[in-house]
Amino acid sequence: MRKIILPAVLLFLFFSCDQKPEVERELPQKEQGVVEDSVMVVSAHPLATKVGVEVMKAGGNAFDAAIAVNFALAVVYPRAGNLGGGGFAVLRTKEGENNTLDFREKAAIGADRDMYLDENGSVIDGLSLYGGLASGVPGSVEGMIELYDQYGTLRFEELIQPAIDLAERGIVLTEKEASSLNKYKKEFVENNSYEIPFVSESLWEARDTLFQKKIAKTLQEVRDKKRAGFYSGWVAEDIVNTLGLSGGIVSLEDLSNYRSEWRAPITGNFKGYNIISMPPPSSGGIALAQLLQGTEKFDFSKLVHNSAAHIHLMTEIERRVYADRATFLGDPDYEDIPQDDLISFNYNDSRFSDISLESKTPSSQIKEGEVLAIESHETTHFSIVDSKRNAIAVTTTLNGNYGSKVVTKESGFFMNNEMDDFSLKPGVPNAYGLVGGEANSIKSGKRMLSSMTPTIVEKDSELFMVVGTPGGSTIITSVYQAIVNVIDFQMTMQQAVNAKKVHHQWLPDKIYIEKGAISEKTAERLITLGHELHYWDQIGRLDCILVLPDGKLEGAADYTRSDGKALGF
Ligand code: DON
Repeated sequence: MRKIILPAVLLFLFFSCDQKPEVERELPQKEQGVVEDSVMVVSAHPLATKVGVEVMKAGGNAFDAAIAVNFALAVVYPRAGNLGGGGFAVLRTKEGENNTLDFREKAAIGADRDMYLDENGSVIDGLSLYGGLASGVPGSVEGMIELYDQYGTLRFEELIQPAIDLAERGIVLTEKEASSLNKYKKEFVENNSYEIPFVSESLWEARDTLFQKKIAKTLQEVRDKKRAGFYSGWVAEDIVNTLGLSGGIVSLEDLSNYRSEWRAPITGNFKGYNIISMPPPSSGGIALAQLLQGTEKFDFSKLVHNSAAHIHLMTEIERRVYADRATFLGDPDYEDIPQDDLISFNYNDSRFSDISLESKTPSSQIKEGEVLAIESHETTHFSIVDSKRNAIAVTTTLNGNYGSKVVTKESGFFMNNEMDDFSLKPGVPNAYGLVGGEANSIKSGKRMLSSMTPTIVEKDSELFMVVGTPGGSTIITSVYQAIVNVIDFQMTMQQAVNAKKVHHQWLPDKIYIEKGAISEKTAERLITLGHELHYWDQIGRLDCILVLPDGKLEGAADYTRSDGKALGF
């Protein structure tokens, strides 16, 4: 991306108090994450992180560790870790090969574009979020087996066994997990007519033990029969039967047909750093490449972090990028996506050229619409680097917290409610307030558009950073801010993770601000520029790794917003 510097006079006049002083003030001691020489795992759960470290101690590479962590998360982090969902992996081998794996769910063969509409053409409330019809065909198990077939080195049995042990021996709940399970108790009971281990007669308390015997049996089946252990046989029948109890249409044929896809990464350049991220059906890579081009055009390194100038420019860039997302992006196996145009310099240079420093551009002038967004943290991301510098970023989800809330009757795992990520009807927002058009309409066998943005950054052709987060529509902007925080604002990885985030997604036309991110004065200045502000408790839960100048690894888990844990050796 070439750099166009805005007329310095304009920048100076308008944002003079938000520009960095000529002489740098003494910086406070910079908080670092966990620093280790050789390997690093950062995930949302200490037990899953430990599993990944143990795999590498046993001689496994980062990809082996990722498979083991992913299966472990399905047990220890049931709100988002999963067997019944899907996700994406972005990886970089020690030789510098980049690759991405798409194990996103698919619409069932029997799905069609109007399946969530009533006879008047209105979206039926809740149908794409709860119960059997909310689920797409799950991709996580196939994805992990495919990753193993291409990049695994240890025996597959060794990678899945820790998850089996955790399910059988039980896991001790943290305070956050106990209260999260309690919060959803009513929905668990409403969506399952049989006993499930996630419902306790009395309420869960921290330090209670959760046993998951059925999921242990399922994992043993996958251990012994790999794909056939999940996509055919009793587990597949159980998925079909369970979903069928509440209107589901996923069939045995859907399951036996399911395959993950290797896809060429989206690559972009930001100030000489090479950005490697997820292509469609995730919108993450394209949107991230666009956001970074806008950022380079306005040169954020001259601004004070989270000042009015910074947030205004970021908002104006994000508004345009999310409008493109809604219009152009969907499953590339079904739709023509103008991918090359969207990430090209010329396109973005002109896309951001009407940004005014003096006032916001109302989203209605970019495209019509009025919708709602919600705060959420139900996906999960982990980052792993091994001693040879193989690296992998994986983001996986059931979509909502505990997906559709339906637990498969005999096999014991939560099913996704990913169908809600399709555009159910043009202009009608999904759970994250995102609107979409034809490119993301429902079609038989098609994948729904995602915001998940697992990303790897290179510097001078070497590994530099591994990044990712949950957060629905805020995933893209959180990953983007983490990268810019390190490169432009000179933060450590831990500071970049901890830093308060802000978010804009075109519609609704509001800036979402994490509480504590800005001063009253900054808020006043943003309002003067025409912005509407809306405060959220939390934005983002990044789990990232940075390669330090001396070659050591800084692992940064989001310990301020979650139970996340970084560990290495
Ligand atoms: O794929 C997507 O973009 C969403 N299904 C992700 C959902 C999510 O991140 C939930 N909250 N953290």
